[in-house]
Amino acid sequence: MKNYIIHDEWKIIEDKFRPEYNEISESLCSIGNGRMGQRANFEEKYSGSTLSGSYIAGVYYTDKTRVGWWKNGYPEYFAKVLNAANWIGINITIDGEELDLATCEVTDFSRILDMQTGILYRTFEATLASGKKVAVSSRRFCSIADDQIGAIEYSITAVNFDGNLTIEPYVDFDVENKDSNYDEKFWIEIAKETTAGAVYNIAETKKTAFQVCTGTEYKIIQNGNAVDLSNAELIQKEKFVSNIINIKTKEGETTTIYKYAANISSFNYEKSEILAKCKEAVGRAVDAGFESLLDAQINAWAAKWEESDIKIEGDIAAQQGIRFNIFHMNQTYTGEDERLNIGPKGFTGEKYGGSTYWDTEAYCLPFYLATADEKVSRQLLVYRYKHLQKAIENAEKLGFSDGAALYPMVTMNGEECHNEWEITFEEIHRNGAIAFAIYDYIRYTGDKQYLTEYGLEVLVGIARFWAQRVNWSEAKKQYVMLGVTGPNEYENNINNNWYTNYIACWTMDYAREAIEFVKSDDVEKYLAVANKMSLNEATETAKWADISEKMYYPANEEMGIFLQQDNFLDKEIIKVSDLDKKHLPINQNWSWDRILRSCFIKQADVLQGLYLFEEHFSEAEHRKNFDFYEPITVHESSLSPCVHVILASKLGKEEKAYEMYVRTARLDLDDYNNDTEDGLHITSMAGTWMSVTKGFGGMRVYDNMLHFAPIIPKQWTSFDFNIRFRGTVLDVKTTQKTVTVTNHSDADLTVKVYGELVEVKGNSAVEVATKS
Ligand code: BGC
Repeated sequence: MKNYIIHDEWKIIEDKFRPEYNEISESLCSIGNGRMGQRANFEEKYSGSTLSGSYIAGVYYTDKTRVGWWKNGYPEYFAKVLNAANWIGINITIDGEELDLATCEVTDFSRILDMQTGILYRTFEATLASGKKVAVSSRRFCSIADDQIGAIEYSITAVNFDGNLTIEPYVDFDVENKDSNYDEKFWIEIAKETTAGAVYNIAETKKTAFQVCTGTEYKIIQNGNAVDLSNAELIQKEKFVSNIINIKTKEGETTTIYKYAANISSFNYEKSEILAKCKEAVGRAVDAGFESLLDAQINAWAAKWEESDIKIEGDIAAQQGIRFNIFHMNQTYTGEDERLNIGPKGFTGEKYGGSTYWDTEAYCLPFYLATADEKVSRQLLVYRYKHLQKAIENAEKLGFSDGAALYPMVTMNGEECHNEWEITFEEIHRNGAIAFAIYDYIRYTGDKQYLTEYGLEVLVGIARFWAQRVNWSEAKKQYVMLGVTGPNEYENNINNNWYTNYIACWTMDYAREAIEFVKSDDVEKYLAVANKMSLNEATETAKWADISEKMYYPANEEMGIFLQQDNFLDKEIIKVSDLDKKHLPINQNWSWDRILRSCFIKQADVLQGLYLFEEHFSEAEHRKNFDFYEPITVHESSLSPCVHVILASKLGKEEKAYEMYVRTARLDLDDYNNDTEDGLHITSMAGTWMSVTKGFGGMRVYDNMLHFAPIIPKQWTSFDFNIRFRGTVLDVKTTQKTVTVTNHSDADLTVKVYGELVEVKGNSAVEVATKS
């Protein structure tokens, strides 16, 4: 755990040059706009430890799968988000000496991410070996108002010398991925163009053949005058283009470089067009100028915060933590493009390949549902709808038939690209999360029509999969599901994972309901879907109903708990608190077989089911299961603590809820897991948001209505979240004494607070007493 980020309500502040933490800070201060993202690397050269990262949504590489023992059904490749062109680079040389923070004395350093506006600031003074000192300050952002554009203002002041300043703004495609299996570089040069003041570089990805044009234009201002760039030296090297400008500078004089960049890819345009489109975008940025781009950026972020901000008073670390999480959620996904999704590291690192996991449906969707127009979360569902055929093919590869769909555990384009048998073939609960997301979306938005338009087909495909995946146990006279991995990946190849059995049956029930709805809503459409999917309604739905009715669920009635899987209680049950700390995290200290044999749980599993299907179970069932499973959970997945905050809050276990909250909210800021340098945990960020709204706020949607049941940690004076609900924007503020629901829209809204109906008139507020 680290503690070097200064606590501030709106800013992430690194106040000293700490080369040993550089990669962590690069992750924390990453900027993005849903279409591209950039780690907080330095503009000038840096020979110290750094993970350069510039990412373009939708552009990936299919690296050859690397495994020792090949298993039939493994995918051929693992998709990787690519480190794309470095567009931020500006090499600086002073009288022949390179500015490189790894080789000079650095003072007055700060790197600050302003989350309110999405602007990254840096300042420092550097004394070179010669004793010459420069002061640098920079501002940069990926425009959230125009997602093709990035802009940099970089000012350099000669503190104690007169001399020659060499400036080299560049675009470099000669970059690599840290996670390349074979030290291969993934970009091939296609074309480049260098003129005085502008450079354009086009490269193509190997195998996947995406083309990207990255271009920049720059201006240099000295003493208020634009520097003449006509004598710029035009440089072209392999996959690299730049201009070199030599100018004089005097002691005390500041030179400012404005670099305007655009990334345009063949994901969005014809290859033949990308150069022209890139020039167009860069031209737009140049014409607007830095200050006006900045204004648009500030306004666009203000609009995002208006709908998604959470204020916490009395605990600045918690305030910073939650805003940090919301900020990254907002810059990772904007819902502009149905072909895009959310990688577990967003645009902040390479880990997990930038691909889509069940994280999106189970964790991220609720955030976008409540903080953005419903089109945004709908896009996430449509993404899976568009991959249905691939999911059917994926299931066929594993021996399923007749339109059964198994969505991949990890994917870029609908194809499975994960290659560990216990996950690829067995962690099939992911299919359930995709079905549940449809229900969750409709429950929140009321857009039941979605079933008719897209949802039904997906539900039928998934229901068919479950119907084929279970088998009848003659011994039990019940259906069972064998050889699975539940959400708790510290158990593999188990039988009857309670969570998986439950979500499977729920999906089959929901698919039947969906059929009834679509039939009544639009019978023509129903017949078309039934025909397209060769649905034999009577036989198939009868089978689903039979399975659902006769499914086996492991449980221990005496203890009043559901068993995570068959024979779970044969394990030696030891509480995590009784384990010597030296064993933790067990995934770094224990052999895999020891983990598998132990009772320790990586992340919520039975509790994940209670969280999703809360209303199906009594409070006593929640309590008994929570009290049994929580003490043996090690939370070694960042997806775990938030579910526990939600359940602990519901059960009035305020201290436990707070303990878990702190763990999720500052996971990356304080580098709890020693891995922030690889990128941020975007899924856990969504979980943090859920911890406040669904956890402390007790927010639920049942019967077309919002419900709240806030509890407030004693460490906080108040917490206050903004959400959208069916066209209304509201704000729920909880203090130690009162809960105030403010309706910022014209239409009246009825909600339930602690189970009581509360009518909140348009543009007014209602206050009730906080229950402790
Ligand atoms: C978790 C999975 C999750 C994946 C990506 C794993 O550690 O166990 O549930 O999907 O990380 O976030």
